[in-house]
Amino acid sequence: MGITSKPVVFAVLSAAVILIGTTATVFIPLFMPSTQPISASIKPYTAVEQEGRDIYMREGCNNCHTQTVRPLRTEVLRYGEYSKPEEFAYDRPFLWGSRRTGPDLNRVGGKYPDSWHYTHLMSPQGMFEKSNMPPYAWLAKNKLDTGYSYKKCSVLGYGYSKSDVEQQIGQYKATVTDGAYPSKGSRDKVTPPELRKELTEMDALIAYIQKLGRDVKNMEAKK
Ligand code: HEC
Repeated sequence: MGITSKPVVFAVLSAAVILIGTTATVFIPLFMPSTQPISASIKPYTAVEQEGRDIYMREGCNNCHTQTVRPLRTEVLRYGEYSKPEEFAYDRPFLWGSRRTGPDLNRVGGKYPDSWHYTHLMSPQGMFEKSNMPPYAWLAKNKLDTGYSYKKCSVLGYGYSKSDVEQQIGQYKATVTDGAYPSKGSRDKVTPPELRKELTEMDALIAYIQKLGRDVKNMEAKK
């Protein structure tokens, strides 16, 4: 008489084994700090970058773009260093994506100047005739709503004070509205005159795009 002929005992024992297995492989690691690494070189998003990230999600950019460079030779050659878990410590929710209608964006920060993005977002087809990326010119016609910026950053645990957030917003606004901003020409082309002295949704989205992979690139450069 083996255990298989005692259905009730067998069921109870299997349930116990599965429970122990689940606890050991799921719940214990879930609370171990080593499974949630935070790289010292990765900085949280600034308030403006966080607003840009929210616009990225609202517009569904992640339906066409992934943010994970896989450790495959072809991908590393095309996009750069492959993605590591600790890079995503501040990504809530993560935007790894699963469809690559467009290129991966995990290393796109710094690849092009801001002016490139203003021109591209205004009309991808103006740059690449066959691109199926929709134009987002209207984002430059929307003033950025920063009413919830502080709340968002504190909920996400970035550790900014209210004045840090105001300073980050003020600083980015000063950068893009400055007469000497290198991408002024392209920005003025999409931004209506009454918003040229303000932050628009497109400005925030570009700040976010330029942040993607930037800390990792700086880390590599220091090596
Ligand atoms: C329908 C699919 C689709 C959507 C939605 C989409 N894109 Fe794209 N995207 C593409 C394709 C295809 C390309 C490659 C051709 C081109 O550059 O236009 C691309 C290229 C890009 C590039 C240049 C990448 C590089 O390395 O050259 C950036 C940056 C970008 N998209 C950002 C965005 C952002 C931001 C959004 C949301 C506001 C967005 N995309 C929405 C399909 C899409």
